[in-house]
Amino acid sequence: MRQKYFKTEMVDGQVMYNINHPKFEAKITQHGGQLLSFKDTQSQSDWLWLSKSASLKGDRAIRGGVPLCWPWFGPSPNPKLPQHGYARVLPWNLLSCEGNESELTIRLNCNLEDAEIDLKHLSLVVEYILGDDIKINLHTENLTDKTISISQAIHTYFNVSDIHKTKVKGLEGVTYINQLTGKELLNENELVIAEEVDCIYKTNQSKVVIKTPNCQYLISGNHYDSVVVWNPWQDKAKSMADFDDEGFKEMLCVEMANTNALTIPAKQDFTLSQHIQRI
Ligand code: BG6
Repeated sequence: MRQKYFKTEMVDGQVMYNINHPKFEAKITQHGGQLLSFKDTQSQSDWLWLSKSASLKGDRAIRGGVPLCWPWFGPSPNPKLPQHGYARVLPWNLLSCEGNESELTIRLNCNLEDAEIDLKHLSLVVEYILGDDIKINLHTENLTDKTISISQAIHTYFNVSDIHKTKVKGLEGVTYINQLTGKELLNENELVIAEEVDCIYKTNQSKVVIKTPNCQYLISGNHYDSVVVWNPWQDKAKSMADFDDEGFKEMLCVEMANTNALTIPAKQDFTLSQHIQRI
């Protein structure tokens, strides 16, 4: 199980896995099973953004890195249940860490018995394949005799260094729902982020490129029905206790998601994936 590249430490009373590999340094938290940081050895810069005010104490979802939204995306129909589901607020178990000097595969499963609602009929495993790039596989298994329905997202916070000089390519010709206005529109151009944005792009095959002043991220995936683009901008960032006031200038979320109800037949499984390369 333990690899020479792999160390466990405690941060704010929570388990953090630190990985020092010849190709990268990464951090994964037990709380939320979340990839929190990924720095390739060559650039030494973090591909992922983490809020300076994020809580790592395990008392809420961690604002940054790659939160996993599951078994629903967005608000729950029952307002007492957490937005974006349980996976990002539950503890996860390390299952394995395997690999070599080219790449490592780290697998964790979610402690679903700790959720307030009964999720024991499901199994949730995340697989991080880290090396020259980041591959994330979120694997749901329906253990019951009935078809179930979920929604989900791999909610990646990218470090874009300067949002004012960042563009997003690859969503041209895609219809989107602007969640701030409720309107459905066709996107015709590269995206420039100059205000709050919360949009669900209805595509299951786009390759998205985030062009930042320092680098470009090429984002692809499998088995998603939409790509969500989110930046809270200044006022909303200020209203969130765990979002540092200036942080919106350095981040952009681009999420591979199934925002519509996704059905998984009895005893079947389903894997949502996101693949991130720096080009
Ligand atoms: C995005 C949603 O995925 O996540 C937004 O589209 C939401 O509506 C954002 O505001 C952040 O959600 P949260 O629960 O982490 O504050």
